[in-house]
Amino acid sequence: MKWIRLNVELPEDDFVHMVKLEGKKLCIVRCQGKLHVLQNSCPHAGGVLSGGWCKNGNIVCPIHRYEYSLETGKGLAGQGDYIDVYPIEERVDGIYIGFRDSWIKNLFS
Ligand code: FES
Repeated sequence: MKWIRLNVELPEDDFVHMVKLEGKKLCIVRCQGKLHVLQNSCPHAGGVLSGGWCKNGNIVCPIHRYEYSLETGKGLAGQGDYIDVYPIEERVDGIYIGFRDSWIKNLFS
């Protein structure tokens, strides 16, 4: 696992935003005070998840309103799909996002 520091200021309140890390877009969410980092592209038809919103612990895609768990990335029953969720740590010197080697190959190649 490689941890990369996120160099952006984040709001204290809940939000859904897009961040760029090493040139790649990710969706970052604070929902009920907890941070989550997700892939930014919806697997259904490419909607931008950072344009969506949180509902019952899920991110809702703004295009066709598919929902994915913020914790596991699993789509609602019947969707049969999922999104990548990334580990995140709030440390004294900033926020770090964890990437497995296989993710780095896909994300940063
Ligand atoms: S593109 Fe996201 S639900 Fe269809």
